[in-house]
Amino acid sequence: MKTEILKVLRESGGYVSGQQLCDSFGVSRTAVWKVIDQLKKEGYEIEAVRNKGYRLIESPDVMGQAELESLIDTRWAGKTVVYAKETDSTNIQAKALGEKGAVHGTLVVADRQTAGKGRRGRRWTSPPGTSIYMTILLKPQFLPSKAPMLTLVMALSVAEGIMGETGLPAQIKWPNDIVVNGKKVCGILTEMSAEIDYINYVVTGAGVNVNADSFPEDIARTATSLYIEGGVKLRRAQLAASIVERYEKNYEMFMETEDLSRLKDPYNRLLVNCRKEVRILEPGNEYEAVASGINDTGELVVMTADGKEKAIYAGEVSVRGVYGYV
Ligand code: BTN
Repeated sequence: MKTEILKVLRESGGYVSGQQLCDSFGVSRTAVWKVIDQLKKEGYEIEAVRNKGYRLIESPDVMGQAELESLIDTRWAGKTVVYAKETDSTNIQAKALGEKGAVHGTLVVADRQTAGKGRRGRRWTSPPGTSIYMTILLKPQFLPSKAPMLTLVMALSVAEGIMGETGLPAQIKWPNDIVVNGKKVCGILTEMSAEIDYINYVVTGAGVNVNADSFPEDIARTATSLYIEGGVKLRRAQLAASIVERYEKNYEMFMETEDLSRLKDPYNRLLVNCRKEVRILEPGNEYEAVASGINDTGELVVMTADGKEKAIYAGEVSVRGVYGYV
């Protein structure tokens, strides 16, 4: 009921009478009062005026279950939210839920991760209070070889969500880092459980640096937050909801063709590497080329110095700007 009351208060924008809440949810005034009291304890500023009712004055930057559920407006993505104040890794938890048969679209969110995972076995430092750590569980019925494209679907959704909520110029560094002003604000990690020709489940996790005001020295050169770039503290749940809503839309477009043909134009418009010279780091081979965008399967198409066009598959390859990270 907390989620529903929060939603009604938020959507009304003004006063909602206690009686109206009682009638809508078929509960007593005391039950309503208890929920309002709980919300106040969580930091929501709610005014109670005699003969008028309750009014939500301000929502704090909380990442609670009710906050997320009351904001996410979708048909299947994030319809079930599993929230934890602290967890090892939202990807690990989403996989555990996948094993237990949780539904397609289940969203796992945490305020802090104690074992956050980055790409290629790296760690993802995940302090509390400032970032989004979220993972969506998917059960697609296509071949496992197509799953890596879902990372690009998430990258596009995060970039669109950031632009929509902040107006900041979010861009994508192929295949799946989101950058603002040349520095990384989000990393994405997709993992999968599959048979040779059948996907059990896929999890795609995103870590977004939202309100952090500084970064450890070792990553400060390449990492930034939306707060550092925009100077405004954001409500993380609002941004998370916006990303999930865009993800649902983009995923459905992806499913129409089971590739990126319908998403590649918006993706390429945001691609920071587009028409730029990049350094390709393949195992045992490094070379420079000019990137022209992704193709239908999400490979980066580049033109090498000898004029040959080449499509690079993300797997083992790193792409850097010739002069630095992007
Ligand atoms: C990268 O190395 O750039 C990918 C980082 C992915 C981090 C996110 S945070 C939410 C989800 N849970 C994890 O343990 N990792 C991903």
